[in-house]
Amino acid sequence: ERPVTLTVLAERKAAGEPVVMVTAYDYPSALIADQAGVDLVLVGDSAANVVLGYDSTIPVSVDELLVLTKAVRRGLRRALLVADLPFGSYEASDLEAVHTAQRFVKEGGADAVKLERGGTSIDRARAIVAAGIPVVGHLGLTPQAATALGGYRVQGRSADQAEQLLADALALQNAGCFAIVFEAVPAAVTELITSRLDCLTIGIGAGSSTDGQVLVWHDLLGITQGSLAKFVRTFADVHTETLRGVTAYADAVRAREFPAAEHTYAIPADELADLTT
Ligand code: KIV
Ligand code: NA
Repeated sequence: ERPVTLTVLAERKAAGEPVVMVTAYDYPSALIADQAGVDLVLVGDSAANVVLGYDSTIPVSVDELLVLTKAVRRGLRRALLVADLPFGSYEASDLEAVHTAQRFVKEGGADAVKLERGGTSIDRARAIVAAGIPVVGHLGLTPQAATALGGYRVQGRSADQAEQLLADALALQNAGCFAIVFEAVPAAVTELITSRLDCLTIGIGAGSSTDGQVLVWHDLLGITQGSLAKFVRTFADVHTETLRGVTAYADAVRAREFPAAEHTYAIPADELADLTT
């Protein structure tokens, strides 16, 4: 099967064929994403929330994400693997950004890295691209900057904000990003921006006009507990099925109904006789 490359993705955009991206954080999920024919798999720093139980993406470290990236790498054969650079691992200097990106490629096996925001991240993106590593941008609701943005809320709702988004997107493209994720941006704004860009646009809560879509694994499968963002559709109810399975196991143990004979090893009768006499 033909692996997904930047060339394949550019061909998809040119042909108007939507590109599918999903997050994954471990080996079995990566196997499934590949089997499902997903094009891009993102080891998102959303792992902080959905896998590690932090209440934001701020605390997650490079070392924590590297463990997950390596596991996902082992499960992928076809999809392109993108790794998020976590908060505090790339902002301070081009040198820091290149060093961290190299760790995700060299140790983690990532094909590309993703960083958040415009501003200084435009220079960081350019430096990483210059080091030979493909980069994905991320604009709109950028969770690493949630406090500065006034919370987890839609971005680009004023003409000024929308123009800033377009300027940042053009600057990231100019810096060499092959794709940009737009999160929680009004559909009309993303549509306008997509029409002005040559690089791939990937939306999450950004309408249907982007070249591709991305969702968080635990959200789309109904694993995430509690309230979900407006932009999530739940395509399966894995929480209910998992709870059913674990509860059934606990009930079976308590009823001494599990393990049954077929789960049990035997000893030859003569050996058992020797043992008991
Ligand atoms: O970390 C993440 O899951 C992401 C996607 C929502 C784009 O950055
Ligand atoms: Na992220």
